[in-house]
Amino acid sequence: MVTGTIKGLTTSQLEEIGCQIILGNTYHLALRPTSELIDELGGLHKFMNWPRALLTDSGGFQMVSLLHLADITEKGVTFQSPVDGKPMLLTPEESIQIQNRIGADIIMALDDVVRTTITGPRIEEAMYRTLRWIDRCIEAHKRPNEQNLFGIVQGGLDPVLRDICVRGLVDRNLPGYAIGGLSGGEDKDSFWRVVAQCTASLPEDKPRYVMGVGYPLDIVVCSALGADMYDCVYPTRTARFGTALIPEGVLKLKHRAMADDTRPIDPTCMCMVCKNYTRAYIHCLVTKDAMGSQLLSYHNLYYMMKLSNDLHSSIIGGQFPDLFVVLWAFDAVWYS
Ligand code: GUN
Ligand code: ZN
Repeated sequence: MVTGTIKGLTTSQLEEIGCQIILGNTYHLALRPTSELIDELGGLHKFMNWPRALLTDSGGFQMVSLLHLADITEKGVTFQSPVDGKPMLLTPEESIQIQNRIGADIIMALDDVVRTTITGPRIEEAMYRTLRWIDRCIEAHKRPNEQNLFGIVQGGLDPVLRDICVRGLVDRNLPGYAIGGLSGGEDKDSFWRVVAQCTASLPEDKPRYVMGVGYPLDIVVCSALGADMYDCVYPTRTARFGTALIPEGVLKLKHRAMADDTRPIDPTCMCMVCKNYTRAYIHCLVTKDAMGSQLLSYHNLYYMMKLSNDLHSSIIGGQFPDLFVVLWAFDAVWYS
């Protein structure tokens, strides 16, 4: 979410789809409309007319991933302002102060994120710095009764570093924990190994959140490994490229085969888009009108919500292994 919106959808559509929580980025919101203005106007829930839960990410990750010029020191993350090019510094204290003003229900600690594909002492430095910064975040957090501060496990692909980080964070008794630094180009085996290790040693009675994940199959696999929460731009971003998520994999609405296809995107889907529109109509819209990507975003989020609800109820009902086999067989196309 940039500037308080899931691109192309209204908050009432999100409620209709059954979304319970959405994510905003501190970095984007701090630049525009600014956290001071959001605070003055009554907080982000009110500003964007969203009555359900909100989560804000701390900002460092966005700066590092979007602005390659970001530089990390013990003080915080230094970056060039995209407004006037001047150097700016985001400290752990400032990230929390901004997130306190924005007012989300879950706020994230500022972490030192490094790509999992790099090796050497930088991974260790980032993990220890993330642990030092968590104490500065806890100290700076002024609304612990209203906002839940989650810590983020770093440590790259190194099991020893991950273990030190998990223990350090669990000692701080936080309301929830995230597993960070993943989905940055590492192979699937390493990715799953890190998730499995972290979920196994994080408390079972608190949310375990895998950040920046993911594709439908990643969510199925990570849930099997014990994870509870995810965030990803994939469903709406891929919609803007004309792609729909369906049980068999993906459907490219731009393909010429769609031009006269009178079926819905997914004949088994109960969403507003699949009930009302044909592939042919959406094919016609995708390159010409914003409505094309809006309808695809709606369907894709509905698809992800159904997947999440199916996972949830199968876990509650004790049928998760059966569902896993079915979803794996369908979604394995992702990895082929
Ligand atoms: N989003 C995806 N991965 C990360 C991460 O490691 N840290 C933070 N703060 N946000 C993320
Ligand atoms: Zn649909």
